[in-house]
Amino acid sequence: MFVVHGSKVTSSPLRMFASVVVAMLGLCHCSNHNGTFLRTPELSGPSEALGNTVAVFECKLLPHPENETVLMTLFNRGSTDTWLGDSTSLAGEAAIFNLVVKPSHAGDLVCQARAQNNSNIKPTFSNTHYLKVFEPVSSASVSIMSFTTIFEGEDLYLSCTADGNNVSFTWLQNDQPISSPHVMSRDHSFWIDRITQADSGTYVCEASNSFNGTDFTTRSQEVNVTVKGPRRVFEGEKLVLFCPIDGINMSFTWLLNYQPISSPHVLFSDRLLWINRTTQADSGTYVCEASNGTDFTTRSQEFNITVKGPRRVFEGEKLVLFCPIDGINMSFTWLLNYQPISSPHVLFSDRLLWINRTTQADSGTYVCEASISLKGIDYVSRSWNVNVIVKAVVSDPDISFAVLTEDSHYFSVGVTCQSAVGTPPVAFSLYNGTESVANVTSADRRAVFRVPVVFGEHLGTFRCQANNGAKTASSGWLPIKIEKVKGPVSLTYDYDIAENFAVVGVRLYCKVAAGSHLRYQWFLNKSLLQDHGSFYYVFNQLPEQSILILSVGRSSAGTYHCVVSNSFDNTTTISSRGRYLDKEVLNRLPVLVVAVVFGCFIFLILLVVICCGFGVIYSKIYWRREYGDKFLLEMERRVVAYEGELDVSEYSDGADVLRTVGDGFDQASDASSDEWPQIARQKKTIEDEPIEVPLGFK
Ligand SMILES: *[C@@H]1O[C@H](CO)[C@@H](O)[C@H](O)[C@H]1NC(C)=O
Ligand SMILES: *[C@@H]1O[C@H](CO)[C@@H](O)[C@H](O)[C@H]1NC(C)=O
Ligand SMILES: *[C@@H]1O[C@H](CO)[C@@H](O)[C@H](O)[C@H]1NC(C)=O
Ligand SMILES: *[C@@H]1O[C@H](CO)[C@@H](O)[C@H](O)[C@H]1NC(C)=O
Ligand SMILES: *[C@@H]1O[C@H](CO)[C@@H](O)[C@H](O)[C@H]1NC(C)=O
Ligand SMILES: *[C@@H]1O[C@H](CO)[C@@H](O)[C@H](O)[C@H]1NC(C)=O
Ligand SMILES: *[C@@H]1O[C@H](CO)[C@@H](O)[C@H](O)[C@H]1NC(C)=O
Ligand SMILES: *[C@@H]1O[C@H](CO)[C@@H](O)[C@H](O)[C@H]1NC(C)=O
Repeated sequence: MFVVHGSKVTSSPLRMFASVVVAMLGLCHCSNHNGTFLRTPELSGPSEALGNTVAVFECKLLPHPENETVLMTLFNRGSTDTWLGDSTSLAGEAAIFNLVVKPSHAGDLVCQARAQNNSNIKPTFSNTHYLKVFEPVSSASVSIMSFTTIFEGEDLYLSCTADGNNVSFTWLQNDQPISSPHVMSRDHSFWIDRITQADSGTYVCEASNSFNGTDFTTRSQEVNVTVKGPRRVFEGEKLVLFCPIDGINMSFTWLLNYQPISSPHVLFSDRLLWINRTTQADSGTYVCEASNGTDFTTRSQEFNITVKGPRRVFEGEKLVLFCPIDGINMSFTWLLNYQPISSPHVLFSDRLLWINRTTQADSGTYVCEASISLKGIDYVSRSWNVNVIVKAVVSDPDISFAVLTEDSHYFSVGVTCQSAVGTPPVAFSLYNGTESVANVTSADRRAVFRVPVVFGEHLGTFRCQANNGAKTASSGWLPIKIEKVKGPVSLTYDYDIAENFAVVGVRLYCKVAAGSHLRYQWFLNKSLLQDHGSFYYVFNQLPEQSILILSVGRSSAGTYHCVVSNSFDNTTTISSRGRYLDKEVLNRLPVLVVAVVFGCFIFLILLVVICCGFGVIYSKIYWRREYGDKFLLEMERRVVAYEGELDVSEYSDGADVLRTVGDGFDQASDASSDEWPQIARQKKTIEDEPIEVPLGFK
């Protein structure tokens, strides 16, 4: 018994010989004409063996030929026969092969029996015995088919390799099993479609297999994957794309918007696409194609690249620029709009320009210059232009609304949101309470939202939010309710009296019972009055009332009424009753006052007169004695005349009229104008007659 270590023996003559023997095997069985011959040996052993362990194979030849030593040889039959070991059998005992199993041993094994020292006897071959070699998994390794820094929306491909058979793979992210639905794995590959920042982390593959109930596992190295926000490239910056297609002997081509790329500044190298200085024309959808000769072409995922125009920062934000010129012992200077920068808040440090709090004055085109002095000669290199726009943060918007008329039946409210400050575009959102109603992006800091109207219902309490990239600005809350105009409409008035008791000014008040967005119109003799005229002006206290202020004169005479409608709907109007006013009518009123004053005055005089009368009566006896009866008769007549003027009914009439005028809601003009002439007549009685009184009372 001995241990053999397999080694490859390639022996064509042996193989030819073996083939011949195999061909003749059947013949040998049957023909037995020349004494000793060998039967077919029998090979046995494990059909599966674990690598690097010892597997025992036996080869038995029965019956054993007499007085012959038989040499057994174990081979692995492949494309070439491989010698695995020799063993001799002296007297019919089985030949034993102790094989230290290697992967190369897998395959069809066969044992040859040959009589030692007797070339006359033909060797024979055993049955073939299939050996499977089980390899425990080992040396797992992950490779990443893209950059380890990738951008949101791109795809991640990982693949794992390991030695061993029947290997299965599992993947761990941050040492946890991965359950995300957009992650897929098959065999040794692992990929994530449209990666998100949550997919950042450490990836590891675990490769495992098992043999006879023993599990073998090995862990790959860790791969750190960093997912950045959406890929942002500013004009002038570098763009490098990596074709994530796996394959050997592939050639790669890149397409921009599905067309071959012809720009001379786009460079290709194997899987890479390389643009040193992007322009906005480099924006688009990039795709790479990998082809393996003519029969196989595959396309990669899409890379949507937007090359942004100027770099934008908000007022107050930090701006850091990095000079893209390489070099040792260079000195750097920066220019803004091709002028040296002198602002004290701009800091420089080697290749960096640094502004802690930008202002709008920092907007412009930045260029850096790198210079070096060699042997007294200055060499200056200039970077490309970096355009920077410092944006103003949007201010809190104002919210307002107006009713819009689509046709005579359909109305909506236009809610306007407007910010005074802020660099466009501005995204406006309208909220009804906490509920988002609509979003609009505006190029001019102003947005109008249309909300359908249901009359009489409270539409809600609205607010606007505005955002142009920095913080969100909010308006105050605006309750919106739209109501149709509803009568009755009342017309009242009051007036001003001058020192001479004449009415000089009148204020007419127009009010309506209900309605929103009211429009008041004033009419004189059925012709519309404008906002102001020679003798009046209109003063609106919206929405409660409208006031017409008149100066009383010849031209202001006439019948006044007011009409109320919704400002958004001129089909429904409600009119007040008319009221006739002129100078005479109006001045009747103060006359009452005058009458009262005069009345009191006259009453006083009367009192004095009565007193005097008593005085006269007392002195009458004396006077009669002195002057006789004629004078006394004259005095009595005068006293009677003054008593007749104090007619109480006249004053009470006047007071009634005054009240009526004061609260004349919905008074028909006819009714009041009927009363006025009456007062005018009374006034005449008071003003014109006193002088004639002595004559009237005869
Ligand atoms: C084997 O050898 C023995 C003794 O050496 C001899 O007697 C015998 O005949 C031999 N057998 C054959 C078949 O030659
Ligand atoms: C076979 O022959 C060799 C020499 O030719 C000899 O040394 C050896 O002992 C022989 N073996 C047997 C089993 O006869
Ligand atoms: C692009 O940049 C690389 C390295 O920075 C440089 O080697 C190459 O010459 C540049 N290509 C062009 C066209 O400027
Ligand atoms: C890229 O852009 C195209 C067209 O604009 C769009 O159809 C596609 O979904 C985008 N792909 C990705 C990965 O965003
Ligand atoms: C408006 O945008 C916000 C945030 O993007 C979103 O939550 C909301 O649903 C949008 N509203 C409407 C009505 O589309
Ligand atoms: C606003 O919200 C109120 C209360 O949630 C609701 O009754 C009303 O219909 C909403 N208005 C609009 C225009 O969505
Ligand atoms: C209005 O009509 C009255 C007669 O009803 C007339 O006296 C007055 O002058 C008119 N006023 C105007 C401004 O036309
Ligand atoms: C109502 O307004 C519309 C549009 O402003 C106008 O065309 C129409 O003539 C108006 N109708 C009346 C009765 O004023």
